[in-house]
Amino acid sequence: MIQKAKGTYDVFGEYGKKLLYIEELIEGLMEKYNYEYFRTPIFESSNLFHRGVGETTDIVTKETYDFKDRGNRDMTLRPEGTAGIVRSYIENKMYGNHTVPVKAWYCGPMFRYERPQSGRFREFYQYGVEVFGSEDSLADAEVISIPVNLLKLLGLKGIKVNINTLGDSESRALYREALIEYFKPHIDELCEDCKERFLKNPLRILDCKVDKDNPIMKGAPKTIDYLNEASKKHFEEVKKFLDSMGIEYKVDTNLVRGLDYYTHTVFEVEASVEGFGSQNVLCGGGRYDNLVETLDGPKTSGVGFALGMERLMTALEYENIEFPIINDIDCYVIPMSENEKGYSLNLAMDLRLNGFITEIDYNNRNLKNNFKQADRLNTKFVIIIGEEEVKSGIITIKDNKSKEEYKIGKEKLIDFLDENVCE
Ligand code: HAM
Repeated sequence: MIQKAKGTYDVFGEYGKKLLYIEELIEGLMEKYNYEYFRTPIFESSNLFHRGVGETTDIVTKETYDFKDRGNRDMTLRPEGTAGIVRSYIENKMYGNHTVPVKAWYCGPMFRYERPQSGRFREFYQYGVEVFGSEDSLADAEVISIPVNLLKLLGLKGIKVNINTLGDSESRALYREALIEYFKPHIDELCEDCKERFLKNPLRILDCKVDKDNPIMKGAPKTIDYLNEASKKHFEEVKKFLDSMGIEYKVDTNLVRGLDYYTHTVFEVEASVEGFGSQNVLCGGGRYDNLVETLDGPKTSGVGFALGMERLMTALEYENIEFPIINDIDCYVIPMSENEKGYSLNLAMDLRLNGFITEIDYNNRNLKNNFKQADRLNTKFVIIIGEEEVKSGIITIKDNKSKEEYKIGKEKLIDFLDENVCE
């Protein structure tokens, strides 16, 4: 038997219904925030991710699905959504004719060759937003408010928002010097990857999974001590705006995030649900004022986040969140014989197009088994179509709960159901 690839999963049944419900909620929320729906390709030129996400990040060095296409081009399955959206922003020249800022949202599969475990997949779904063209700290705060509000709408209680700042390019350069100075005497005590990171991008040492508990890490300089005035001001404003929206947060000076493009604000939203395990970061994001330029676009600031749909689903499960999911059907249509199938199919189509969830007997069951099937499907009304019904146009419809039976002219059937099917 062929099995699914490691780190992937199938969606069906109740889980599928819950996912669709959340996606609908996201769609509604994005409409209210006035974000524009984007969909970019699942594979892109490898170069985009190498330059966008960062050559020294774990994602690029260890986790990308790279392949050569049949034209010998280097391609990569997207490991995240930001780089593709930035590419699209530049390629479609949105800095020219679009209303500023451009506010994009997306939801789709991402691919990372990670060690699969609870909350960590090789194919996973992210919902995310990206805002282009506002340097204002107001945009950072608004972006942070989106996942917080989504989680509130879903009824999730145990959430924690952690924020930090990396500062602007000048502050980051000062910080980099401080890191080099600090790690230089200790470099032999760190892992091989960290030695490489020390030479190429010392900031990446801070999110090393091997050395994370090494005491040397604890004493490392903090970004917050190397901020210039403009960066301090930006961070203070973000906090002030979060306060004015009543969003609680904690400043975590160790938070640096695992992607290279961030400047200024970085943040994560964590599920603090008992038993959730180590993969409890539901959502991560921040500001990236140099990425558009790095990918050959004009200088444009950006800020965004992405939320892992699988981790969100797990958090909702741990908190026993109920979903308003419909598991009933309105009508079950039974053709009594071969002769009534066409009429029944047409009637079922009519009912569906008028908004009623309708099933039909696809399996030539006898009447008794059809009623059993109607019960299994939690049917509200059973409609029986025999020779007589077709001839007279008078439909026999049975309330499957009260067992009361009605005879109704076909033209009045929709009105009857409108009155009797409650949502
Ligand atoms: P990220 O922190 O790499 O950021 O991923 C965001 C979220 O995706 C994580 O918090 C987690 O919930 C989920 N996630 C990541 N990897 C996996 C995995 N292997 N399995 C399941 N879930 C996973 C980004 O991707 C940035 N593009 C976010 C961003 C947007 N920054 C600015 N704009």
